Amino acid sequence: MNTPLTQITPLRWTDDCLELLDQRQLPGEEVYLHCRCVEEVAEAIRTLAVRGAPLIGITAAYGMVIAARQATQRADLAALRDLLAGTRPTAVNLFWALERCWRVVDAQPAGTSLSALAPVLLAEARAIHQQDADACDAMALAGQAVFPPGARVLTHCNAGALATGGIGTALGVIRAAYAAGHVAHVWVDETRPLLQGARLTAWELQRDGIPYRLLCDNMAASLMASGQVDLVIVGADRITRNGDFANKIGTYGVAVLAEAHGIPFYVAAPWSTIDLSLADGSQIPVEFRHDEEICSLGGVRTAPAGTQGWNPAFDVTPARLVRGLITERGIHTLPFPEAECGAIPTNI
Ligand code: MRU
Repeated sequence: MNTPLTQITPLRWTDDCLELLDQRQLPGEEVYLHCRCVEEVAEAIRTLAVRGAPLIGITAAYGMVIAARQATQRADLAALRDLLAGTRPTAVNLFWALERCWRVVDAQPAGTSLSALAPVLLAEARAIHQQDADACDAMALAGQAVFPPGARVLTHCNAGALATGGIGTALGVIRAAYAAGHVAHVWVDETRPLLQGARLTAWELQRDGIPYRLLCDNMAASLMASGQVDLVIVGADRITRNGDFANKIGTYGVAVLAEAHGIPFYVAAPWSTIDLSLADGSQIPVEFRHDEEICSLGGVRTAPAGTQGWNPAFDVTPARLVRGLITERGIHTLPFPEAECGAIPTNI
């Protein structure tokens, strides 16, 4: 058994406001934003101060508590919900959490005041938060089965405590596997353009004392060819009925490389990331972000002024490249069997 996992708290609810660890400033500074209005919560999500599919959903749920306090009439509440829903299009957890909150609103007797709605919404936000933490723990347990002894595991982006309400999805599985003695070290993809691997995953691993090495995304092929990767585990932002999934841009390339080198490729995600309303990955709305993110690095311009870019924040990996999907319910092979799909509750 290696060292226990350190506590990382990317989101805190106080009676006064929603406190969000500003992930744009990591690893340099640990600063919390204090959000007191929905506009501030929405801005934090849009600018990736808070990010990662499950954590975006949890943040939006607490945002609805703020919305109930801020609104002066019921129509305002719907508009504030829509403001949160309009922040980022790809992670389905955002819409899933808002839908859950809205069902709670609808379930209240007609004429319930907004001030009476706030505590009910707070209870729902806390439940969503706790359920995500529990899902992370269950994934970590289920995921242990995929590690060979002394595994050298590669991950892309950040799917850790900074992206969830608990220990993480893909990184949670890896952190738990290290604590159980199954992991030799972690390969961390830098994850251009916003460097979630270099800034966030490396930060989490360092705090845990887990050995890791950082590589630029374009080095993964050589690394795999050298025989130094035993398995890959990544998170997901949206998984469709046939098992195709969206995750941080570059994930698809990693999956293709893993296949080419005979390396098992796993996805870890809670059930709230599965979108059974979509048949396949071609239907996933992919977020495109501003060119500026790829024309500069760390605030320093790297491309000539006037350069046009192409900057999708996510890509879609086909299910055929996935060895297994780790959820809180166990390890699944993809695509989901049609019969199972019909039986799967949507969780909303
Ligand atoms: O743009 P981001 O940083 O929100 O993208 C995050 C990812 O792609 C994660 O891998 C995904 O949300 C899973 S987080 C448990």
